[in-house]
Amino acid sequence: MDITKAIIPAAGLGTRFLPYTKAIPKEMLPLLDKPAIQHIVEEGLSSDIKQFLMITGRSKEAIANHFDIAPELEHFLQERNKSHFIAGIDRIIRQAEFAYIRQAEPLGLGHAIWLARHHIGKEYFGIFLPDDIIVGKQPGLAQLMRVARQEKASVIAVQEVPLECASSYGMVAIKKQITPNLFQVSHLVEKPERKDAPSNLAIIGRYVLSHKIFQALDETGTHAGGELQLTDGITQMMKLNEKVFAYKVQGTRYDIGTPIGWLKATMGLALQHPEYTSHMRKYIDEFHTMQSGLYDSSKNILHDI
Ligand code: G1P
Repeated sequence: MDITKAIIPAAGLGTRFLPYTKAIPKEMLPLLDKPAIQHIVEEGLSSDIKQFLMITGRSKEAIANHFDIAPELEHFLQERNKSHFIAGIDRIIRQAEFAYIRQAEPLGLGHAIWLARHHIGKEYFGIFLPDDIIVGKQPGLAQLMRVARQEKASVIAVQEVPLECASSYGMVAIKKQITPNLFQVSHLVEKPERKDAPSNLAIIGRYVLSHKIFQALDETGTHAGGELQLTDGITQMMKLNEKVFAYKVQGTRYDIGTPIGWLKATMGLALQHPEYTSHMRKYIDEFHTMQSGLYDSSKNILHDI
């Protein structure tokens, strides 16, 4: 099973992160020294994905600019022997291919994926929801690709969540448990109330899907509010004889769509990064001993002017 393409839906307005996201795409939030979407593309490349199709929208040009060569900047850095500052992103630009489709109206995740139908052909492909950052020994998508090849079927990433959080996720109804981490899915329910959640397994932002999803999305009606849900499309795809599995991805998942999730991701990544970890640990220790850089009115510095 060849899986070389992935879709990154990046058209969302980022309402959970306003006002930051008023003029700047949420995918360009920094995680350490890179925009979040670069972490996503790096996970793709480490999973052997070569072609990325971004579904963007108005005021998302910064994403395309980031994954493009900037001749003036290259020249400027070369002259000063500082090309290493952009060596990482340059390598990505040379290794991967990027294509862009604009979603003109916010018609839902299912609609964003459906827009990619002519690009994908008759293959299995990956999806990365860029709000979800997954850090683990093996790249998140690569774990799903392994299962997809083994089962010759579609696979979605899940994690256990407390039932009171079910209304924030697509939730999985289990048909059969295969191993402690692998389940065959009977259907999916998008953001149910706690009492209607079919299990405590929540979809997190990685999928490997069959191209049959496009026919299924064609056949799926839009929900109240006019959005086409990907979860409804996947449930419909099962009626087209495509098996779907849910796999508990190994690793840590951060939802960077909110300020708190982004802060946790920033700290978690910094604590594991060779360059930042000792600084971070020292700073955290200072918090414990109250020697931190927190504002303290008793240490106020007064200026006459
Ligand atoms: C989307 C999906 C949902 C999934 C979630 C994971 O929802 O619709 O099924 O559980 O991503 O992050 P969103 O958070 O974009 O509303």
